[in-house]
Amino acid sequence: MKITVSTFAKRKAEKQRISMLTCYDYTTAKIVNSSNVDAVLVGDSLGNVMLGYEDTLSVTMEDMITFGHAVARGCKDKLVVIDMPFMSYQVSVEQAITNAGRLLKEGRGNAVKLEGGKKVAEHIRAITNAGIPVMAHIGMTPQSVNAFGGNKVQGKTELAAKMLIEDALAVQEAGAFSVVLECVPAKLAKIVTEKLSIPTIGIGAGPDCDGQILVYQDMLGMYKDFSPKFVKHFGNVGDQILEAFNKYDSEVKTSAFPSEEHCFKIDDEVLEKLY
Ligand code: KIV
Ligand code: NA
Repeated sequence: MKITVSTFAKRKAEKQRISMLTCYDYTTAKIVNSSNVDAVLVGDSLGNVMLGYEDTLSVTMEDMITFGHAVARGCKDKLVVIDMPFMSYQVSVEQAITNAGRLLKEGRGNAVKLEGGKKVAEHIRAITNAGIPVMAHIGMTPQSVNAFGGNKVQGKTELAAKMLIEDALAVQEAGAFSVVLECVPAKLAKIVTEKLSIPTIGIGAGPDCDGQILVYQDMLGMYKDFSPKFVKHFGNVGDQILEAFNKYDSEVKTSAFPSEEHCFKIDDEVLEKLY
């Protein structure tokens, strides 16, 4: 049975955890789809891990639609959330609805995610009213990297912590079905999670969130440009890929590959006529 936003609500009510991973392509989507992981996010982190950008600011609506649709085709049983990229929702509520709509119409996602608390509550309300579920994202929000002056843990002072709680309540009030808490002290994330009736999904936000999300290349040990404190390696796929590439290279160079089993045949009678 397909996981939906109703599943998220049910998990919160029954105090059961939600597992999420990011995903950006069809092949990986098929693997996630056959796993027990509940939901995927086509994150604008694709700017970093798929396109090699330094931040997420250059990611476009077209990027999100291309990668989003690839994931949607492979993840039929999971809730597919697609990130709204930088400047696709900030300018106006009207643009926010139009672009959220494109992520469902053209990207074939089931929900969208956008960054911000109180400041985007109106946008969340309007998108939700259009029948598009919204996942909010507060704490460290990478699209505001220039405003933050770097990627830093958020909510450490009394004022900042209170603002984070207010943001969480505001996005819930606006109709968000869930909220990502990124780089927030674990004990603050616990308080936020207890105050909300919608599930919190943590990344660098401790064990008391209702769910967790990681970037899949991070958790597989594939992306090594930068490794935040909150990342755990659940595999060393990067090393396995490297090993396979080198094995291939050496078999090509020693003519061990391709061997007979990988070759197509031609009838001997035809062959004779070629000499
Ligand atoms: O883009 C992304 O991968 C995200 C998650 C880290 C929450 O927004
Ligand atoms: Na993102």
